[in-house]
Formats: sequence, C-alpha cells, structure tokens
Amino acid sequence: MSKAASTRTTPRLAAASPAVSPADARALVSSLTPLLHDWLPRQRWFAGKGRQITGFVPVTVTELLPMNAGGPWLLHLLVRVEQRGASGPPPSIPSSSTPAPAAASAGDCYQLLLGIRETLPPYLASALIGHVAEGPLAGLTAYEGLHDPRLAELLLERLGSAGAQGPLRFDRAGPVPVGLTGRLLGAEQSNSSLVYGDAFILKILRRVFPGPHPDLELPLALAAEGCERVPAPVAWFEAGDPSGSGESLTLGVLQPYLRGSQDGWQLALAALADGRDFTLEARALGRATAEVHTALADALPTVTLGRSQTAQLASQMADRLDLAAQAVPSLRPYVSGLRTAFAALAGLDEAGRGRPAQRVHGDLHLGQALRTPDGRWSLIDFEGEPARPLAERRRPQPPVRDVAGMLRSFDYAARSHEPWRPDWAERCRAAYCEGYAAASGVDPRAEPELLRAYETDKAVYEVLYEARHRPDWLPVPMAAIRRLAGEV
Ligand SMILES: Nc1ncnc2c1ncn2[C@@H]1O[C@H](COP(=O)(O)OP(=O)(O)OP(=O)(O)O)[C@@H](O)[C@H]1O
Ligand SMILES: [Mg+2]
Repeated sequence: MSKAASTRTTPRLAAASPAVSPADARALVSSLTPLLHDWLPRQRWFAGKGRQITGFVPVTVTELLPMNAGGPWLLHLLVRVEQRGASGPPPSIPSSSTPAPAAASAGDCYQLLLGIRETLPPYLASALIGHVAEGPLAGLTAYEGLHDPRLAELLLERLGSAGAQGPLRFDRAGPVPVGLTGRLLGAEQSNSSLVYGDAFILKILRRVFPGPHPDLELPLALAAEGCERVPAPVAWFEAGDPSGSGESLTLGVLQPYLRGSQDGWQLALAALADGRDFTLEARALGRATAEVHTALADALPTVTLGRSQTAQLASQMADRLDLAAQAVPSLRPYVSGLRTAFAALAGLDEAGRGRPAQRVHGDLHLGQALRTPDGRWSLIDFEGEPARPLAERRRPQPPVRDVAGMLRSFDYAARSHEPWRPDWAERCRAAYCEGYAAASGVDPRAEPELLRAYETDKAVYEVLYEARHRPDWLPVPMAAIRRLAGEV
C-alpha cells in the first residue's frame, strides 16, 4: 500500500487489542452494510434467502490480522442478520448429494471472515465483495477472506497457537502443522471448508448458535472413545456468547483430510452407471454406521423412550404428514395408508418395554460417508439437520433414524439412474442392514414398525422438499410413498 493511500484509508481503531470496541464495530459494519446487502443473499450458505434484510447488527468484531501489519486485513465478524418474515420450510434434502441451505429464523447469527485490501490482486478477483464507499473503510476493497491463501494460512496459525484472541478462543487436541496452503472447497455447502495441503480440512460454520455444536461435540466424543470411523478434531475455535448465556458458539473445526476419498453418493452413481453391484460397499457402510452408533451410545448419555414418548414421536410424524399433504396435493391419496405406519409405531410399546434412544448422526445419507482408497468408510458432518434447533438436534433418538436416512439414500441413487434399478436399491438396502446387524448385533429390520415409521417420515419430508424446490425429483420420494403406504 502506498504511503498516501494508507494515510487516507487506514481506519483508526481505538484499541490495540484484536477485539474491536462496540463503537468501532458498529461503524465498521455500517460501512460494509451496502455491500453485505448485495453479497450475503447470493451465498450458498445464507439460509434467509427470499426475505428482505432489514439490518446487520455486529455481535463481535475481531481483527484477526490488523491492518497495520501492512498487508491484507482480516476481520472476523459475527453478525446478526435481521430479516422480515418468518422462517420457511425445512430445508436440506439429505438423500441426494445436493443438500440445500437451511431456512432461517429472523435474526440469525452468521460468521464472516472478510479480507480488506486497498486493491485486489487478480488472483482474488472472484472473491470480491465490493468497494466500500463510506465510513471507516471508505476507499478499501472487501472480499471473501477465505479465498486468500495468506489469510487462510493465518487462520491455521491461530488454530495452532491455542488461546484467546479478543472474544475468540482457539483450542487444539494435538499439534497443528504450520505453513500449509489452504484452498477453499468449491463444493456447494451449507458451511465453508478450507483444505490445507490435502492433510487437514477446516470447516467454518456459517450460521452459528450458542451451545455445544454436534459437529464438534460428537467427533470429539467418538475420538475419546477410540472410534476411528470419524476424522478426530485436531483443533477448533469458538466465541463466548455475548448475550451472556455462558455458552460458546462453535465457529470452526479442523480435522484430518481423507485424501483421495470419494463420497458414497458418487460411488453409488458410478456403480450404477457401470452396472456394478454395490452390496459389498453397502454392507461395509452398514458396519461403519453400527460402529459409530455403538461408540456414541458408549460415549454419551442414552435414554429409554417410554410408551408416551414413542406415541409422541408418532404423533409428531403424523402432524408432519398432515402439513405436507396440505402443501402437496399428490400426497393426499396416500395419507391414510401412511398413517398406519405411525399408528403402528404408537402401538409398539404396548408391552411397556421401552425403546433405546441415543445421540445419532441426524442427517445420514450416502453423501455423508467417505470411502478412502483403502476401501474404508468414514462418516462426516455431524451437524444434523441444520433447519432444526440445536437442542432438538442434540436430543437422543432411536438409532434407526440414521438407518432410515441411508436406506432412503440408496433409493434416491437407484432412481437417479436411467433406467430405474429398484432391484439394485433393494439389494443395497438389505446388505446395509446385514452389515449393521453383523457389527452391532441389532438388525434394524427386526422392528419393522419402527423402521417403516422413520422411512415414511423421511419420505414425507422429501416429498415436501422436492415439491417446493426440485419438482423434477418428486417422482423419487413418491415411489417410496406408494410402497410405504402399502399400495405396491
Ligand atoms: N475429513 C474429510 N476428508 C475429506 N473430505 C472431506 C472431509 N470432511 C468433509 N469433506 C468434504 O467436504 C464436503 C463438505 O463437508 P461437510 O459435509 O462437513 O460440510 P457441510 O457444509 O455441512 O456440507 P452440507 O451442505 O453437505 O451439509 C464433503 O462433502 C466432503 O466432500
Ligand atoms: Mg452439513
């Protein structure tokens, strides 16, 4: 930066500490507001699409790299985005490889990492957010900081030197390497991930909440339990909740990168395209799921759902069916048939045996399983369904919920192939359950009422999602609906 330019544009922040004072934070965010209005709704991970943004309120602003260091400036922001209107429908479609961002409620808090430079070098052109016209940043250029290798490297350094930086706290479970170049994954995601030297992956959570985040909590618990089916967190960072709840907001998790891995969705589609059987892989995936479930049950509290709780589960599923049928007319002819699945679930505990519930993955599908070149399956992305409140995602549930998610995913894969291969899906579904049973001693098919209720609930959700977002895909869950309603 030239001397004249730096004299003209470098904002003067009151404190030397990385935490920016509330007055400076307000000034910075208001300086960025016109740009954020335009940029934020275009981000894949922004959950509040389609609703007017009425304001940005700074929650915390931290100088991760101060401007006076002479190079780019890295501003870490937690910003509350105020919007008009209520939240939309439940969002992510977990059975395919293309999950969608979550619907937001008014006033969601987002994590932004903004680079600020006087001019943007050409290699960062695609990261441009815009040129700031007013306020303390006037004359400077704001951009998505995660695209900048220099800033990505700095983030890794911070993770390696555990401790507080303003309101942010960095922690690590082991040594964090230095000097690895970070690249932002291009994948359509509900968060953002940086891969460092094909050795580590840092997931930056975008919509953040106070309270333990399952994407950190569960992998840490599994690592402590010695379960190697999930990449163990190496380092993470959080912010204290400025509202004073005493809880932290999890902001990012660094884990080993499974080099050369492919996800189950890609592998399943490739097998279908080649006319290959996939039962060996499906069986191994069943084993991996069971191992993760067993470790979660050992590591974290479990409960027994009594008769009234099972009945309540069934009635919530029935309510979701009614809502979906109101929105999607083609579902209506099957409502009474589908309701029998929920009635059977409600009646399951007549004998008063109770039903074990535990922490689960919560959004399991083929895209959440990675197979490394040595043929080993790992599970990733334990955040659960992002649309649901954190407290609900952390509640113990029957593990068959995850099994149902994966079974629906085999169905989706077979249906996305021309011609449709129902036999392929059926074989994979059976093999997956066999693998699960072999590793856990519990065959998910042994309680068909439970499995059918969870599969039905999932298929109903898929129908609603596809009708709203991807009508071309509607025949996929509708085929399952006919089967689950007992029509075929
Ligand atoms: N440990 C890992 N090793 C290799 N690749 C990984 C690893 N973790 C994640 N990935 C890749 O990064 C992608 C995104 O990761 P993840 O699913 O955790 O993010 P997300 O933002 O929650 O995504 P989604 O929108 O699908 O829920 C995965 O689909 C996978 O391809
Ligand atoms: Mg996710």
